[in-house]
Amino acid sequence: MQSEYALHDDDFRKISALVAKRSGIVIDDRKRAFIHGRLGRRLRILGLANFAEYCRLLEGPEGAGEQDMLVNAITTNHTSFFRESHHFDYLAQTVLPATIKANGPRNGRLRLWSAGCSTGEEPYSLAMTLRDCRLPMNGWDVRVLATDLDTNVVRHAAEGLYDAERVEAIPPPLRKQYVSTEPDGRAAMDDTLRSLITFKPLNLLEDWPMTGPFDVIFCRNVVIYFDKPTQRRLFDRFATILRPDGWLFVGHSESLTNISDRFDLVGRTIYRRIR
Ligand SMILES: C[S@@+](CC[C@H](N)C(=O)[O-])C[C@H]1O[C@@H](n2cnc3c(N)ncnc32)[C@H](O)[C@@H]1O
Repeated sequence: MQSEYALHDDDFRKISALVAKRSGIVIDDRKRAFIHGRLGRRLRILGLANFAEYCRLLEGPEGAGEQDMLVNAITTNHTSFFRESHHFDYLAQTVLPATIKANGPRNGRLRLWSAGCSTGEEPYSLAMTLRDCRLPMNGWDVRVLATDLDTNVVRHAAEGLYDAERVEAIPPPLRKQYVSTEPDGRAAMDDTLRSLITFKPLNLLEDWPMTGPFDVIFCRNVVIYFDKPTQRRLFDRFATILRPDGWLFVGHSESLTNISDRFDLVGRTIYRRIR
C-alpha cells in the first residue's frame, strides 16, 4: 500500500517502540504496510507533511494526547455478538450453576470482567446470558465490568447502538427481548442490559483501580498482539484478581501453555484458576 507519505525506518522504529510501551502491542516489520495505512489517515487529518513531523508531535509537549490517538488508530477492534458462542453456553450451563451452588440462591455476588471489550458486543452478550439464564439468583448482586484501552470503542460500547446487521448474530429470542430499533434504523441495547455493565477505559498494562475478586474474566483476542513476557505478567495478574477457582476465557487462537501454571484447562479455551 502506498500513500503520499514515506515511512522511513527511523520513524517506524520510534512509532513501534511507543506503541509497545503504551499498549503492549508488538509491531514487527510485517505490519509496516498496516501502520502506514492507519497512520497515513491520521497524518492527513492533522495536516502534517511526513512521518518525521508526526514523530516530533508524539515526542513533544503536546504528545500525550496524540499518543492516545496513535494507540486508538493501531488497535484492531474486530468483534461480534456471541463470538465463539460455546463460551456463552459454558457460562450458562456450567459457571453460573456452579457459582450458585457454591453461594446459595440468595444474596450472592457475581463479578464478570470483559477485559478488552472493544465496541461492547462481548459484555452485552455476557449480560444477555446472565439475564436469560433463568437460574435462581434472588437478590444477587451481579455486575459486568467492560474495559478497553481504546477510548473511542469504550464510548461506542457505553452508547449501546449498533448497525442493524451487527445484531443479526444475536439468537432471535434474545434479540427480540433485548434489542429495539431506533428511529434512524440502528439497534439499541435494552436498559436492563446496560444497567448490569460498567464501561471504563483501562490499559491492561497499567495499574488496575479495582480490587476484585472476579468470578469470571473474558480476555479474548487481546493478548495475541502482546509479546510473551507481557502475556506472562498479564495472566499472572488475572490469576491474582480472580477468586480461587474463578474462570478465565481466552480467544480461539490463544493458550496459556508455557505462559502460566496458575490455571487448568477445563474446556475449549476455558481455564480455571488453581493457584
Ligand atoms: C480484537 S478486539 C477483541 C474484542 C473482544 N474481546 C472479542 O474477542 O471479540 C481486541 C481489543 O483489545 C484492546 N486492547 C489492545 N491492547 C490493550 C491493552 N493494552 N489494554 C486494554 N485493551 C487493549 C483493543 O483496543 C481491542 O479493542
